[in-house]
Amino acid sequence: MKPDNGYFGQFGGMFIPEILHEVFRDLEAAYESLDADFYAEYKAELSSFSCRPTPLMLARNLTRYFGGPKIYIKREDLNHTGAHKLNNVVGQGLLVQRIGKTRVIAETGAGQHGIATATMAARFGFDCTIYMGAKDVLRQRPNVFWMEKLGAKVVSVTDGGGILKDAINAAMKDLVTNFQNTHYVLGTACGPHPYPQMVADFQNVIGKEAQRQILELESRQPTAVYACVGGGSNAIGIFQGFLDSDVQLIGVEAGGKGLNTDKHAARLAGGGACPGVAQGYKTYFLQNSDGQLSETHSIAAGLDYVGVSPIMSHLHDTGRVRFEAATDDDVIEAHKLVMEKEGIIPALESAHAFAQAFKEISRYSADDIIIINQSGRGDKDIFTIADAYQDKDWEDFIIKKADSYAQTRKKHT
Ligand SMILES: Cc1ncc(COP(=O)(O)O)c(C=O)c1O
Repeated sequence: MKPDNGYFGQFGGMFIPEILHEVFRDLEAAYESLDADFYAEYKAELSSFSCRPTPLMLARNLTRYFGGPKIYIKREDLNHTGAHKLNNVVGQGLLVQRIGKTRVIAETGAGQHGIATATMAARFGFDCTIYMGAKDVLRQRPNVFWMEKLGAKVVSVTDGGGILKDAINAAMKDLVTNFQNTHYVLGTACGPHPYPQMVADFQNVIGKEAQRQILELESRQPTAVYACVGGGSNAIGIFQGFLDSDVQLIGVEAGGKGLNTDKHAARLAGGGACPGVAQGYKTYFLQNSDGQLSETHSIAAGLDYVGVSPIMSHLHDTGRVRFEAATDDDVIEAHKLVMEKEGIIPALESAHAFAQAFKEISRYSADDIIIINQSGRGDKDIFTIADAYQDKDWEDFIIKKADSYAQTRKKHT
């Protein structure tokens, strides 16, 4: 994606403290100077470390269940660490090697970006600190466990609502203090220039592959492509394969408890967001009339971000992408259906894309083809999903496990 002087339409820019100006200009210059050797190494690393290309899978049973359209799933969950996040992280890791920094920091919501960054740091030999909202630490505990075991320091951020925007603020503060040896591996296509461009570029591998794969499989373009939108990186990743065509592109945000409540994160799907400047860039933010950022909610930790990629805001305003919101309840229903029909376990984030596609399925004919981007796998969501299913056996297991830990602790104290 090529911004114009750091802007996509009226969105983007670089609103950062004076002290970071040189750092960001150096990063921009380093990014722009990447050559064919870099991209060859990037491609090789994605193939050996992250198992790319990921498949485009025909969802045979769902297609039959709905009676058409033909449904394909882009399996980004099959990347190493279970989500699209590694595409971006490997690119930024190789860039950090070139600019000679030794420490990386990152924010994470669902923990997928944190875990991807922790694996990259282990492989490339960087010191690593991950900032994560305290609420997200609780609901994505398995990912915290793995990040720590991979050698990263995980900082639980208790400011604000203890969610993604608070983790971003904490990471930015760290960068201001430690920029000399530290690179901030931003995990989505947000933040000050050049991050939206850089992350979107590193994620365009999804769309390039999907476009090639659908032509090989069906000899034609799909009718529509669905992707969930947190910050917007998996969506802009897959959409870039289809932007210059008449393929319908649908971005699905977190409808949470409903757009008529204040418990959602629908920025572009009619949830009341308006343009503003925060967290270093200009985009649509959910905010009150004084410009204070709102608290957000989603069943999916990776979708409750209060802002959104400036690229998405631009694509919204130009009408190229349609934005919708799926509620927590719709998401759980869709999640169940995908598991039962196809034997795959999507992340709750990705289940938003499925939920919206299923809601709209009767708009399509049997001749149509749709692609749904499965941005990640759902293992990390076991606690949230078990709560949603009100699974008694799982609850009993957790209670027994907690009891046994308590007994062991007692014995040792
Ligand atoms: C599996 C998965 N999908 C989607 C997202 C949302 O991020 P983005 O909109 O940048 O793809 C996340 C964020 O953590 C995630 O873990």
